Amino acid sequence: MRIDIEGLYSLAQQSIMDQISALIVGDSVIDAFCGVGGSAIGLARAGKKVISIDSNAERIEMAKYNATLFGVSEQIEFMVGNSLKLLPTLHADAIFLDPPWGGPDYSKQRKFYFKDFAPNGRELLEISLARARQVSLRLPKNFEMAELEPYRDRVKVTQNYLGEKLMHFTAYFEGATYAA
Ligand SMILES: C[S@@+](CC[C@H](N)C(=O)[O-])C[C@H]1O[C@@H](n2cnc3c(N)ncnc32)[C@H](O)[C@@H]1O
Repeated sequence: MRIDIEGLYSLAQQSIMDQISALIVGDSVIDAFCGVGGSAIGLARAGKKVISIDSNAERIEMAKYNATLFGVSEQIEFMVGNSLKLLPTLHADAIFLDPPWGGPDYSKQRKFYFKDFAPNGRELLEISLARARQVSLRLPKNFEMAELEPYRDRVKVTQNYLGEKLMHFTAYFEGATYAA
């Protein structure tokens, strides 16, 4: 695979993407933070049609190459741009959000909040909830779950393990019923 340092530490492992993809509704999904393609490839391997966005053009080129290695490039449309700007122009059955956690130091914080994602997690979530039937968001282990209280009637959180090790959580939110 082609990969850079940031891409390496933020790459979604395929076995974890299998767990996440199994809970993502519908046929089409927007992967709003593509990186070097871990999430896009995992979603495509699960049979989804994917629109994958990243603001870093070099990383999108790496993701394109990596998708060919997995034989899923036909299922993924790649876009370079700012997801905050592009999401309101797109729609799909589901949106998968994997925004940066601010680098490896995120784990030194006692608690991680929506505001600590970059871009801001709540803003991303609110934009996305209007655009798809379901929005999923990858959450670090130190995420403050009380932040999900306003969504309590429409969110489900799962734990993602790699072997015996808890890696992170994923929150699945019920979004809008979108008529294309
Ligand atoms: C956590 S990584 C994504 C990892 C990816 N899901 C994977 O499995 O390989 C976050 C990515 O978001 C990108 N990014 C940061 N801000 C962005 C924005 N506003 N719009 C789109 N992409 C952005 C970064 O370039 C980085 O590649």
